Amino acid sequence: MKIEFVTSAEAAEVLAVLVHEGRAFVGMGTHLDTATGGSLTKAMSHSRFTGGTNSTLVVAAPAGVNAASIVLTGAGEADKFDDLALEAAAGAAYHAVKMSGATSLTIDAYYLTAEQAGRAAFAARLAAYRFLKYRTTLKPAKTPSIETIRVVAADVAAAQAAYDALSPVAEAVEFARDLVAEPANVLYPVEFAKRVKGLEKLGLEVEILGEKELEKLGFRTLLAVGQGSRRESQVAIMKWNGGTKGDQPIAFVGKGVTFDTGGISLKPADGMEEMKWDMGGSAAVTGLMHALAGRKAKVNAVGVIGLVENMPDGNAQRPGDVVESLSGQTVEVLNTDAEGRLVLADCLWYTQERFKPKFMLDLATLTGAMIIALGLEYAGVFSNSDELADNFLAAAPKVGENAWRMPIPTFYERHIDTPIADVKNTGNGRAGGSITAALFLQRFTNGTPWAHIDIAPVAWVKDSRNPTVPDGAVGWGVRTLDRMVADSYEG
Ligand code: BES
Ligand code: MN
Ligand code: ZN
Repeated sequence: MKIEFVTSAEAAEVLAVLVHEGRAFVGMGTHLDTATGGSLTKAMSHSRFTGGTNSTLVVAAPAGVNAASIVLTGAGEADKFDDLALEAAAGAAYHAVKMSGATSLTIDAYYLTAEQAGRAAFAARLAAYRFLKYRTTLKPAKTPSIETIRVVAADVAAAQAAYDALSPVAEAVEFARDLVAEPANVLYPVEFAKRVKGLEKLGLEVEILGEKELEKLGFRTLLAVGQGSRRESQVAIMKWNGGTKGDQPIAFVGKGVTFDTGGISLKPADGMEEMKWDMGGSAAVTGLMHALAGRKAKVNAVGVIGLVENMPDGNAQRPGDVVESLSGQTVEVLNTDAEGRLVLADCLWYTQERFKPKFMLDLATLTGAMIIALGLEYAGVFSNSDELADNFLAAAPKVGENAWRMPIPTFYERHIDTPIADVKNTGNGRAGGSITAALFLQRFTNGTPWAHIDIAPVAWVKDSRNPTVPDGAVGWGVRTLDRMVADSYEG
Protein backbone atom coordinates (compact mmCIF):
# COMPACT_ATOMS: atom_id res chain seq x y z
CA MET A 1 0.00 0.00 0.00
CA LYS A 2 1.31 3.41 -0.97
CA ILE A 3 0.75 6.10 1.67
CA GLU A 4 0.83 9.81 0.85
CA PHE A 5 0.00 13.03 2.63
CA VAL A 6 -1.45 15.91 0.63
CA THR A 7 -2.84 19.35 1.45
CA SER A 8 -5.81 19.28 -0.90
CA ALA A 9 -8.59 16.87 -1.81
CA GLU A 10 -8.97 18.48 -5.27
CA ALA A 11 -7.70 15.48 -7.25
CA ALA A 12 -9.31 12.81 -5.08
CA GLU A 13 -10.77 9.77 -6.83
CA VAL A 14 -12.68 8.43 -3.81
CA LEU A 15 -12.93 10.89 -0.95
CA ALA A 16 -13.69 9.75 2.60
CA VAL A 17 -15.05 12.18 5.17
CA LEU A 18 -15.77 11.45 8.80
CA VAL A 19 -19.30 11.90 10.10
CA HIS A 20 -20.18 11.87 13.78
CA GLU A 21 -23.22 10.25 15.32
CA GLY A 22 -26.33 12.33 14.57
CA ARG A 23 -25.24 12.77 10.92
CA ALA A 24 -22.91 15.58 11.99
CA PHE A 25 -20.34 16.63 9.41
CA VAL A 26 -16.85 17.62 10.39
CA GLY A 27 -13.95 18.93 8.32
CA MET A 28 -14.71 19.09 4.60
CA GLY A 29 -18.08 17.42 5.03
CA THR A 30 -20.08 20.62 5.39
CA HIS A 31 -18.39 22.23 2.40
CA LEU A 32 -18.88 19.10 0.26
CA ASP A 33 -22.51 18.92 1.16
CA THR A 34 -22.98 22.50 -0.01
CA ALA A 35 -20.93 21.95 -3.17
CA THR A 36 -23.08 18.92 -4.08
CA GLY A 37 -26.29 20.81 -3.52
CA GLY A 38 -27.08 18.91 -0.35
CA SER A 39 -26.57 15.45 -1.89
CA LEU A 40 -24.76 14.11 1.15
CA THR A 41 -27.47 15.16 3.57
CA LYS A 42 -30.09 13.78 1.23
CA ALA A 43 -28.28 10.46 0.86
CA MET A 44 -27.95 10.14 4.62
CA SER A 45 -31.55 10.98 5.30
CA HIS A 46 -32.61 8.21 2.91
CA SER A 47 -30.38 5.65 4.59
CA ARG A 48 -29.78 4.14 8.00
CA PHE A 49 -26.34 5.74 8.18
CA THR A 50 -26.16 8.04 11.20
CA GLY A 51 -22.38 8.25 11.73
CA GLY A 52 -22.01 5.27 14.06
CA THR A 53 -18.61 3.55 14.17
CA ASN A 54 -18.08 0.78 11.61
CA SER A 55 -20.79 2.07 9.31
CA THR A 56 -20.34 3.78 5.96
CA LEU A 57 -22.35 5.26 3.14
CA VAL A 58 -20.95 5.60 -0.36
CA VAL A 59 -22.37 8.45 -2.41
CA ALA A 60 -21.58 7.79 -6.07
CA ALA A 61 -20.92 10.39 -8.75
CA PRO A 62 -21.96 13.45 -6.75
CA ALA A 63 -22.44 16.53 -8.92
CA GLY A 64 -20.48 19.69 -8.17
CA VAL A 65 -17.24 18.06 -6.99
CA ASN A 66 -14.31 16.38 -8.74
CA ALA A 67 -14.39 13.16 -6.73
CA ALA A 68 -15.94 10.12 -8.42
CA SER A 69 -17.50 9.17 -5.12
CA ILE A 70 -17.65 10.28 -1.52
CA VAL A 71 -17.53 7.81 1.38
CA LEU A 72 -19.20 8.95 4.55
CA THR A 73 -17.56 7.02 7.34
CA GLY A 74 -18.86 6.78 10.88
CA ALA A 75 -16.74 8.38 13.59
CA GLY A 76 -19.19 7.71 16.42
CA GLU A 77 -20.21 10.11 19.19
CA ALA A 78 -18.24 13.36 18.82
CA ASP A 79 -17.44 13.53 22.54
CA LYS A 80 -16.15 9.95 22.54
CA PHE A 81 -13.93 10.39 19.52
CA ASP A 82 -10.57 8.81 20.33
CA ASP A 83 -7.73 7.04 18.52
CA LEU A 84 -9.71 3.83 18.17
CA ALA A 85 -12.78 5.58 16.75
CA LEU A 86 -10.51 7.33 14.26
CA GLU A 87 -8.82 4.04 13.33
CA ALA A 88 -12.20 2.38 12.85
CA ALA A 89 -13.44 5.24 10.65
CA ALA A 90 -10.36 5.10 8.41
CA GLY A 91 -10.44 1.29 8.28
CA ALA A 92 -14.16 1.16 7.49
CA ALA A 93 -13.73 3.71 4.70
CA TYR A 94 -11.12 1.44 3.15
CA HIS A 95 -13.37 -1.63 3.34
CA ALA A 96 -16.30 0.29 1.83
CA VAL A 97 -14.41 0.96 -1.40
CA LYS A 98 -11.59 -1.59 -1.59
CA MET A 99 -13.37 -3.63 -4.29
CA SER A 100 -14.85 -0.64 -6.13
CA GLY A 101 -12.29 -0.50 -8.91
CA ALA A 102 -10.89 2.81 -7.69
CA THR A 103 -7.13 2.74 -7.24
CA SER A 104 -6.85 5.43 -4.59
CA LEU A 105 -8.67 6.48 -1.46
CA THR A 106 -8.29 9.98 -0.06
CA ILE A 107 -9.21 10.57 3.58
CA ASP A 108 -10.00 14.04 4.89
CA ALA A 109 -7.95 14.69 8.03
CA TYR A 110 -7.31 18.36 7.27
CA TYR A 111 -9.22 19.49 10.36
CA LEU A 112 -7.54 16.91 12.61
CA THR A 113 -4.13 16.99 14.29
CA ALA A 114 -1.02 15.77 12.47
CA GLU A 115 -0.89 12.80 14.84
CA GLN A 116 -4.46 11.89 13.89
CA ALA A 117 -3.72 12.28 10.18
CA GLY A 118 -0.77 9.91 10.53
CA ARG A 119 -2.91 7.48 12.50
CA ALA A 120 -5.65 7.48 9.82
CA ALA A 121 -3.07 6.28 7.29
CA PHE A 122 -1.73 3.70 9.74
CA ALA A 123 -5.25 2.34 10.31
CA ALA A 124 -6.09 2.14 6.60
CA ARG A 125 -2.84 0.26 6.07
CA LEU A 126 -3.66 -2.29 8.78
CA ALA A 127 -7.17 -2.66 7.35
CA ALA A 128 -5.73 -3.38 3.91
CA TYR A 129 -3.64 -6.38 5.04
CA ARG A 130 -4.36 -9.54 3.07
CA PHE A 131 -2.49 -12.84 2.76
CA LEU A 132 -2.76 -13.48 -0.97
CA LYS A 133 0.54 -15.29 -1.47
CA TYR A 134 -1.10 -18.53 -2.58
CA ARG A 135 -3.99 -17.07 -4.59
CA THR A 136 -2.43 -17.55 -8.00
CA THR A 137 -5.65 -17.48 -10.03
CA LEU A 138 -7.50 -14.71 -8.23
CA LYS A 139 -9.47 -12.69 -10.80
CA PRO A 140 -8.74 -8.95 -10.85
CA ALA A 141 -12.43 -8.33 -10.09
CA LYS A 142 -11.99 -10.22 -6.80
CA THR A 143 -8.75 -8.46 -5.86
CA PRO A 144 -8.76 -5.21 -3.86
CA SER A 145 -8.22 -2.31 -6.24
CA ILE A 146 -7.02 0.42 -3.86
CA GLU A 147 -3.27 0.88 -4.24
CA THR A 148 -2.79 4.27 -2.64
CA ILE A 149 -4.08 5.84 0.55
CA ARG A 150 -3.87 9.65 0.55
CA VAL A 151 -4.54 11.57 3.69
CA VAL A 152 -5.36 15.26 3.46
CA ALA A 153 -3.52 17.08 6.25
CA ALA A 154 -2.94 20.70 7.14
CA ASP A 155 0.71 20.07 7.99
CA VAL A 156 1.90 17.43 5.58
CA ALA A 157 5.39 17.14 7.04
CA ALA A 158 4.11 16.71 10.58
CA ALA A 159 1.51 14.16 9.45
CA GLN A 160 4.19 12.23 7.58
CA ALA A 161 6.39 12.30 10.69
CA ALA A 162 3.50 11.00 12.80
CA TYR A 163 2.95 8.22 10.30
CA ASP A 164 6.65 7.40 10.20
CA ALA A 165 6.54 6.89 13.97
CA LEU A 166 3.63 4.42 13.64
CA SER A 167 4.75 2.68 10.48
CA PRO A 168 7.29 0.33 12.20
CA VAL A 169 4.42 -1.02 14.30
CA ALA A 170 2.28 -1.64 11.21
CA GLU A 171 5.21 -3.39 9.56
CA ALA A 172 5.68 -5.55 12.66
CA VAL A 173 1.98 -6.47 12.77
CA GLU A 174 2.13 -7.41 9.08
CA PHE A 175 5.22 -9.53 9.73
CA ALA A 176 3.48 -11.33 12.60
CA ARG A 177 0.30 -11.84 10.55
CA ASP A 178 2.32 -13.38 7.71
CA LEU A 179 3.94 -15.84 10.15
CA VAL A 180 0.57 -16.84 11.61
CA ALA A 181 -1.07 -17.21 8.20
CA GLU A 182 1.64 -19.42 6.69
CA PRO A 183 0.68 -23.09 6.42
CA ALA A 184 2.73 -25.52 8.48
CA ASN A 185 4.31 -27.25 5.47
CA VAL A 186 5.97 -23.93 4.65
CA LEU A 187 6.56 -22.55 8.15
CA TYR A 188 8.19 -25.28 10.23
CA PRO A 189 10.67 -24.57 13.05
CA VAL A 190 13.81 -24.17 10.90
CA GLU A 191 11.99 -21.90 8.42
CA PHE A 192 10.56 -19.80 11.27
CA ALA A 193 14.05 -19.48 12.76
CA LYS A 194 15.40 -18.44 9.35
CA ARG A 195 12.86 -15.64 9.10
CA VAL A 196 13.78 -14.49 12.61
CA LYS A 197 17.48 -14.53 11.66
CA GLY A 198 16.55 -12.23 8.77
CA LEU A 199 15.59 -9.56 11.31
CA GLU A 200 19.27 -8.91 12.01
CA LYS A 201 18.96 -6.37 9.19
CA LEU A 202 16.88 -4.25 11.58
CA GLY A 203 19.66 -4.25 14.19
CA LEU A 204 18.42 -7.15 16.31
CA GLU A 205 20.93 -9.69 17.57
CA VAL A 206 19.63 -13.17 16.77
CA GLU A 207 20.87 -16.51 18.07
CA ILE A 208 19.43 -19.81 16.85
CA LEU A 209 19.78 -22.96 18.94
CA GLY A 210 19.34 -26.27 17.10
CA GLU A 211 18.62 -29.68 18.61
CA LYS A 212 22.29 -30.44 19.33
CA GLU A 213 22.70 -27.27 21.38
CA LEU A 214 19.32 -27.70 23.04
CA GLU A 215 20.25 -31.24 24.11
CA LYS A 216 23.50 -29.99 25.53
CA LEU A 217 21.72 -27.21 27.42
CA GLY A 218 19.07 -29.63 28.72
CA PHE A 219 15.86 -28.41 27.02
CA ARG A 220 14.40 -31.87 27.54
CA THR A 221 10.68 -31.04 27.84
CA LEU A 222 10.84 -28.86 24.70
CA LEU A 223 12.72 -31.56 22.79
CA ALA A 224 10.27 -34.22 24.01
CA VAL A 225 7.47 -32.38 22.18
CA GLY A 226 9.48 -32.16 18.96
CA GLN A 227 10.82 -35.72 19.00
CA GLY A 228 7.81 -37.11 17.12
CA SER A 229 8.44 -34.77 14.19
CA ARG A 230 10.78 -35.05 11.20
CA ARG A 231 11.34 -31.32 11.56
CA GLU A 232 14.17 -30.17 13.79
CA SER A 233 13.17 -28.17 16.89
CA GLN A 234 14.66 -24.70 17.33
CA VAL A 235 14.88 -21.96 19.89
CA ALA A 236 15.38 -18.42 18.59
CA ILE A 237 16.73 -15.68 20.84
CA MET A 238 16.35 -12.04 19.80
CA LYS A 239 18.04 -9.15 21.57
CA TRP A 240 17.33 -5.46 21.21
CA ASN A 241 19.77 -3.24 23.09
CA GLY A 242 18.28 0.23 22.77
CA GLY A 243 18.44 1.08 26.47
CA THR A 244 21.22 1.93 28.87
CA LYS A 245 24.16 -0.42 28.54
CA GLY A 246 24.11 -3.06 31.26
CA ASP A 247 20.49 -2.32 32.24
CA GLN A 248 18.50 -5.45 33.13
CA PRO A 249 16.40 -6.40 30.08
CA ILE A 250 12.69 -7.09 29.90
CA ALA A 251 11.93 -10.50 28.44
CA PHE A 252 9.24 -11.98 26.20
CA VAL A 253 8.72 -15.69 25.62
CA GLY A 254 6.56 -17.28 22.91
CA LYS A 255 4.95 -20.63 22.24
CA GLY A 256 5.88 -21.58 18.70
CA VAL A 257 4.23 -24.89 17.89
CA THR A 258 4.28 -24.64 14.09
CA PHE A 259 1.72 -27.43 13.96
CA ASP A 260 -0.10 -29.16 16.81
CA THR A 261 -1.59 -32.53 15.90
CA GLY A 262 -1.83 -33.30 19.61
CA GLY A 263 0.89 -35.95 19.24
CA ILE A 264 -0.03 -39.47 20.36
CA SER A 265 -2.98 -37.88 22.22
CA LEU A 266 -4.15 -37.05 18.72
CA LYS A 267 -6.64 -34.26 18.09
CA PRO A 268 -9.85 -34.97 16.16
CA ALA A 269 -9.62 -34.29 12.40
CA ASP A 270 -12.33 -31.63 12.50
CA GLY A 271 -10.64 -28.24 12.76
CA MET A 272 -7.14 -29.61 13.17
CA GLU A 273 -5.99 -27.36 10.34
CA GLU A 274 -6.39 -24.43 12.72
CA MET A 275 -3.38 -25.69 14.63
CA LYS A 276 -1.12 -24.10 12.02
CA TRP A 277 -1.58 -20.94 14.09
CA ASP A 278 -0.39 -22.58 17.30
CA MET A 279 2.72 -20.42 16.94
CA GLY A 280 0.79 -17.16 17.44
CA GLY A 281 2.62 -16.45 20.70
CA SER A 282 5.98 -16.67 18.98
CA ALA A 283 4.70 -14.48 16.16
CA ALA A 284 3.67 -11.83 18.70
CA VAL A 285 7.09 -11.90 20.39
CA THR A 286 8.86 -11.72 17.03
CA GLY A 287 6.55 -8.91 15.93
CA LEU A 288 7.28 -6.98 19.12
CA MET A 289 11.05 -7.29 18.63
CA HIS A 290 10.54 -6.18 15.00
CA ALA A 291 8.64 -3.11 16.23
CA LEU A 292 11.17 -2.22 18.95
CA ALA A 293 14.05 -2.39 16.50
CA GLY A 294 12.06 -0.61 13.78
CA ARG A 295 11.34 2.39 15.97
CA LYS A 296 14.64 2.21 17.86
CA ALA A 297 12.97 1.87 21.25
CA LYS A 298 14.99 3.04 24.25
CA VAL A 299 14.88 -0.25 26.08
CA ASN A 300 16.82 -3.48 26.48
CA ALA A 301 14.60 -6.39 25.53
CA VAL A 302 15.01 -10.07 24.77
CA GLY A 303 12.64 -12.40 22.95
CA VAL A 304 12.89 -16.16 23.34
CA ILE A 305 10.69 -18.40 21.21
CA GLY A 306 10.38 -22.18 21.37
CA LEU A 307 9.77 -23.63 17.90
CA VAL A 308 8.60 -27.24 17.59
CA GLU A 309 6.20 -29.38 15.62
CA ASN A 310 3.96 -31.70 17.69
CA MET A 311 3.63 -34.89 15.62
CA PRO A 312 2.83 -38.53 16.42
CA ASP A 313 5.52 -40.66 14.78
CA GLY A 314 7.23 -43.81 16.10
CA ASN A 315 9.65 -41.72 18.10
CA ALA A 316 6.96 -39.51 19.64
CA GLN A 317 6.63 -39.16 23.40
CA ARG A 318 3.90 -41.25 25.03
CA PRO A 319 1.26 -40.41 27.61
CA GLY A 320 2.80 -41.39 30.93
CA ASP A 321 6.36 -40.48 29.98
CA VAL A 322 8.36 -38.69 32.65
CA VAL A 323 10.76 -36.02 31.44
CA GLU A 324 13.26 -33.98 33.43
CA SER A 325 12.90 -30.32 32.49
CA LEU A 326 15.77 -27.85 32.19
CA SER A 327 14.85 -26.59 35.66
CA GLY A 328 15.49 -30.06 37.10
CA GLN A 329 11.81 -30.58 37.96
CA THR A 330 10.40 -33.80 36.55
CA VAL A 331 7.20 -33.70 34.52
CA GLU A 332 4.73 -36.50 33.98
CA VAL A 333 3.33 -36.08 30.46
CA LEU A 334 -0.22 -37.34 30.82
CA ASN A 335 -1.49 -35.77 27.61
CA THR A 336 0.86 -35.10 24.71
CA ASP A 337 -1.61 -32.47 23.46
CA ALA A 338 -0.77 -30.27 26.46
CA GLU A 339 2.54 -29.58 24.70
CA GLY A 340 2.71 -25.79 24.83
CA ARG A 341 3.45 -25.73 28.54
CA LEU A 342 6.29 -28.23 28.00
CA VAL A 343 7.86 -25.95 25.42
CA LEU A 344 7.42 -22.87 27.58
CA ALA A 345 8.68 -24.55 30.77
CA ASP A 346 12.21 -24.83 29.39
CA CYS A 347 12.09 -21.46 27.62
CA LEU A 348 10.94 -19.62 30.76
CA TRP A 349 13.55 -21.30 32.95
CA TYR A 350 16.30 -20.57 30.44
CA THR A 351 15.24 -16.94 30.06
CA GLN A 352 15.26 -16.12 33.76
CA GLU A 353 18.50 -17.98 34.38
CA ARG A 354 20.43 -16.47 31.48
CA PHE A 355 19.05 -12.93 31.32
CA LYS A 356 17.92 -12.21 34.91
CA PRO A 357 15.20 -10.01 33.39
CA LYS A 358 13.09 -7.36 35.16
CA PHE A 359 10.13 -9.49 34.16
CA MET A 360 9.17 -12.29 31.81
CA LEU A 361 5.96 -12.13 29.80
CA ASP A 362 4.93 -15.14 27.75
CA LEU A 363 2.27 -15.40 25.06
CA ALA A 364 0.77 -18.70 23.98
CA THR A 365 -2.21 -20.23 22.22
CA LEU A 366 -2.18 -22.47 25.26
CA THR A 367 -5.66 -23.80 26.00
CA GLY A 368 -9.00 -24.38 24.33
CA ALA A 369 -10.43 -23.76 27.80
CA MET A 370 -9.51 -20.08 27.44
CA ILE A 371 -12.04 -19.82 24.62
CA ILE A 372 -14.68 -21.47 26.80
CA ALA A 373 -13.93 -19.04 29.64
CA LEU A 374 -13.71 -15.74 27.75
CA GLY A 375 -15.19 -16.27 24.30
CA LEU A 376 -13.37 -15.32 21.12
CA GLU A 377 -12.60 -11.67 21.80
CA TYR A 378 -10.54 -11.66 25.01
CA ALA A 379 -7.12 -12.98 25.89
CA GLY A 380 -6.54 -14.19 29.45
CA VAL A 381 -3.89 -12.59 31.66
CA PHE A 382 -2.27 -14.58 34.47
CA SER A 383 0.41 -12.97 36.61
CA ASN A 384 2.30 -13.09 39.89
CA SER A 385 2.86 -9.31 39.61
CA ASP A 386 0.05 -6.77 39.87
CA GLU A 387 2.31 -4.08 38.44
CA LEU A 388 3.13 -6.09 35.32
CA ALA A 389 -0.47 -7.23 34.83
CA ASP A 390 -1.71 -3.65 35.27
CA ASN A 391 0.77 -2.32 32.72
CA PHE A 392 -0.36 -4.92 30.20
CA LEU A 393 -4.04 -4.36 30.93
CA ALA A 394 -3.61 -0.60 30.59
CA ALA A 395 -1.98 -0.90 27.17
CA ALA A 396 -4.35 -3.43 25.57
CA PRO A 397 -7.55 -1.36 25.33
CA LYS A 398 -5.62 1.64 23.98
CA VAL A 399 -4.83 -0.36 20.83
CA GLY A 400 -8.13 -2.21 20.53
CA GLU A 401 -7.00 -5.55 21.95
CA ASN A 402 -9.11 -7.02 24.78
CA ALA A 403 -7.55 -8.77 27.76
CA TRP A 404 -8.95 -9.94 31.09
CA ARG A 405 -7.14 -10.89 34.28
CA MET A 406 -7.58 -14.45 35.54
CA PRO A 407 -6.77 -15.91 38.98
CA ILE A 408 -3.94 -18.33 39.75
CA PRO A 409 -4.86 -19.47 43.26
CA THR A 410 -2.33 -21.58 45.19
CA PHE A 411 -5.13 -23.90 46.30
CA TYR A 412 -5.45 -25.09 42.69
CA GLU A 413 -1.83 -26.25 42.74
CA ARG A 414 -2.92 -29.69 43.91
CA HIS A 415 -4.59 -30.24 40.55
CA ILE A 416 -1.19 -30.44 38.84
CA ASP A 417 0.40 -32.61 41.52
CA THR A 418 1.02 -36.28 40.73
CA PRO A 419 2.42 -39.19 42.74
CA ILE A 420 4.69 -40.04 39.80
CA ALA A 421 6.75 -36.85 39.33
CA ASP A 422 7.16 -33.24 40.53
CA VAL A 423 4.32 -32.01 38.34
CA LYS A 424 1.96 -33.29 35.62
CA ASN A 425 1.08 -31.50 32.41
CA THR A 426 -2.70 -31.73 32.81
CA GLY A 427 -5.14 -30.45 35.40
CA ASN A 428 -8.34 -31.59 37.04
CA GLY A 429 -10.19 -32.91 33.99
CA ARG A 430 -11.50 -29.92 32.05
CA ALA A 431 -12.19 -27.75 35.10
CA GLY A 432 -10.19 -24.52 35.08
CA GLY A 433 -7.98 -25.81 32.28
CA SER A 434 -6.44 -22.41 31.52
CA ILE A 435 -5.67 -21.79 35.18
CA THR A 436 -3.97 -25.13 35.77
CA ALA A 437 -1.92 -24.51 32.62
CA ALA A 438 -0.82 -21.13 34.00
CA LEU A 439 0.01 -22.67 37.37
CA PHE A 440 2.18 -25.20 35.54
CA LEU A 441 4.10 -22.39 33.82
CA GLN A 442 4.52 -20.51 37.09
CA ARG A 443 6.55 -23.41 38.48
CA PHE A 444 9.23 -22.59 35.91
CA THR A 445 9.53 -18.86 36.63
CA ASN A 446 11.73 -19.18 39.72
CA GLY A 447 9.97 -16.24 41.40
CA THR A 448 10.70 -13.78 38.57
CA PRO A 449 7.91 -11.23 38.00
CA TRP A 450 5.96 -12.94 35.25
CA ALA A 451 2.80 -12.71 33.20
CA HIS A 452 1.29 -15.30 30.92
CA ILE A 453 -1.12 -14.28 28.18
CA ASP A 454 -3.30 -17.08 26.81
CA ILE A 455 -4.13 -15.90 23.29
CA ALA A 456 -5.91 -19.06 22.10
CA PRO A 457 -9.17 -17.08 21.66
CA VAL A 458 -7.72 -14.19 19.67
CA ALA A 459 -4.81 -15.33 17.50
CA TRP A 460 -7.11 -15.96 14.52
CA VAL A 461 -10.39 -14.23 13.70
CA LYS A 462 -13.19 -15.53 11.46
CA ASP A 463 -15.79 -12.81 11.64
CA SER A 464 -13.95 -9.62 12.53
CA ARG A 465 -15.88 -6.55 13.65
CA ASN A 466 -12.70 -4.49 13.86
CA PRO A 467 -11.92 -2.78 10.52
CA THR A 468 -8.17 -2.66 11.23
CA VAL A 469 -8.10 -6.44 11.81
CA PRO A 470 -9.16 -8.31 8.67
CA ASP A 471 -10.32 -11.94 8.97
CA GLY A 472 -7.51 -14.45 9.44
CA ALA A 473 -4.20 -13.91 11.22
CA VAL A 474 -4.53 -11.11 13.79
CA GLY A 475 -0.96 -10.56 14.88
CA TRP A 476 -2.55 -10.25 18.30
CA GLY A 477 -0.27 -8.82 20.98
CA VAL A 478 2.20 -6.92 18.82
CA ARG A 479 0.42 -3.61 19.32
CA THR A 480 -0.32 -4.16 23.01
CA LEU A 481 3.24 -5.22 23.82
CA ASP A 482 4.72 -2.34 21.86
CA ARG A 483 2.40 0.09 23.62
CA MET A 484 3.13 -1.42 27.03
CA VAL A 485 6.87 -1.08 26.47
CA ALA A 486 6.48 2.50 25.23
CA ASP A 487 4.21 3.56 28.09
CA SER A 488 5.83 1.71 31.00
CA TYR A 489 9.40 0.60 30.26
CA GLU A 490 11.13 3.12 28.01
CA GLY A 491 13.08 6.20 28.87
N1 BES B 1 -2.86 -25.47 21.00
C1 BES B 1 -3.79 -26.09 21.88
C2 BES B 1 -4.80 -25.10 22.47
C3 BES B 1 -5.81 -24.54 21.51
C4 BES B 1 -6.96 -25.25 21.24
C5 BES B 1 -5.64 -23.32 20.94
C6 BES B 1 -7.91 -24.72 20.38
C7 BES B 1 -6.58 -22.79 20.08
C8 BES B 1 -7.72 -23.49 19.81
C9 BES B 1 -3.05 -26.74 23.04
O1 BES B 1 -1.82 -27.26 22.74
C10 BES B 1 -3.90 -27.87 23.53
O2 BES B 1 -4.10 -28.78 22.78
N2 BES B 1 -4.38 -27.80 24.78
C11 BES B 1 -5.21 -28.81 25.32
C12 BES B 1 -4.78 -29.03 26.74
C13 BES B 1 -5.41 -30.24 27.39
C14 BES B 1 -4.95 -31.50 26.66
C15 BES B 1 -5.02 -30.30 28.83
C16 BES B 1 -6.65 -28.31 25.22
O3 BES B 1 -6.90 -27.12 25.34
O4 BES B 1 -7.52 -29.16 24.96
MN1 MN C 1 -1.94 -29.23 22.03
ZN1 ZN D 1 -0.85 -26.42 21.17
